[in-house]
Amino acid sequence: MKIFVTRQIPGDHLKKLGEGGHEVTISEFDRPLTPEELLERAKGVDGLLSLLSDKIDGEVVDAIGPQLKVVSNYAVGFDNINIDELSDRGIVVTNTPSDEVNEAVAEHTWALILGLIRRIVEADEATRRGAYKGWEPDIFLGTSLKGKTLGIVGLGRIGKMVARRAKGYGMSVIYTKRTKDPESEKELGIEFNSLEELLKKSDVVTLHTPLTEETRHLISNAWPYGQKADTLAQMKKGSFLVNTSRGPVVREHDLVEALKSGHIKGAALDVFESEPNIDPELFGMPNVITTPHIASATTEARDEMGKLAVSGLLDVFSDKIPSNIVKKDVWQKRRK
Ligand code: GLV
Ligand code: GLV
Repeated sequence: MKIFVTRQIPGDHLKKLGEGGHEVTISEFDRPLTPEELLERAKGVDGLLSLLSDKIDGEVVDAIGPQLKVVSNYAVGFDNINIDELSDRGIVVTNTPSDEVNEAVAEHTWALILGLIRRIVEADEATRRGAYKGWEPDIFLGTSLKGKTLGIVGLGRIGKMVARRAKGYGMSVIYTKRTKDPESEKELGIEFNSLEELLKKSDVVTLHTPLTEETRHLISNAWPYGQKADTLAQMKKGSFLVNTSRGPVVREHDLVEALKSGHIKGAALDVFESEPNIDPELFGMPNVITTPHIASATTEARDEMGKLAVSGLLDVFSDKIPSNIVKKDVWQKRRK
């Protein structure tokens, strides 16, 4: 089988791809490919290993050709792939969900929460610049977490890991999700709220939803689907927002306005609405932390991602349903 990998990944997992006699080509560039570059290289392959920066839809897979059987996405999220269009064609899609990745994202979320409320980045910058002249009673006053409320939007595996860690800080945890999760409520001591209630009550709001049409611009100043909700305004005055999910869940421009007005006290963002572009106004704000989409960037997590991305492809080639298949029902009608 022919396999194209859109970019080199950490570790030596890709070696394994070639072991069964498969013909593997890896992009020669250390950057995302343009759509044209991707097509030129992927035409005629049976399997594609893609990254979250590659847009893969029906048009792309048709151009690659009718022999394409599997797209293995090196990410937990798969909003870069049009799952319905690929499923219609019988193309199997796999992703890389694993405890290691979810934990890395949960840990980064906590790094951001703590960095934000204790103003770590701002304080570090001032210290390095030589601004520290001796202890002062009122420099860089932060906010304590104990007794505060953490609002988790999206209680998937990552959301739950974030909730579990909140107990260590003595926070109350509330969550919102399409369907209530009574089992997790019992296990984690957390409480279900509507999105509106959650936003009203939370001192820190953290987002852990996948990006779907339902969650696009979930946090914005005006609900784009004809409802009246104005979710940024619903947030408690002086609260913090953390986003390690997907950038477009937040309308970035609206967040900038809410930060300027002081309604939102600070934000920590690992993802942005149109990556790699970032609203430059965010960089001028000391109460904002930005990281370049690195929530899953630990050696341990990337190692697991590499393993899963490779096994997804190889399983399909050896006619075994991958444990990490995104849509199980495609298996029955898969291309052979
Ligand atoms: C990273 O954002 C991922 O979805 O794995
Ligand atoms: C995805 O981001 C999840 O909630 O697991």
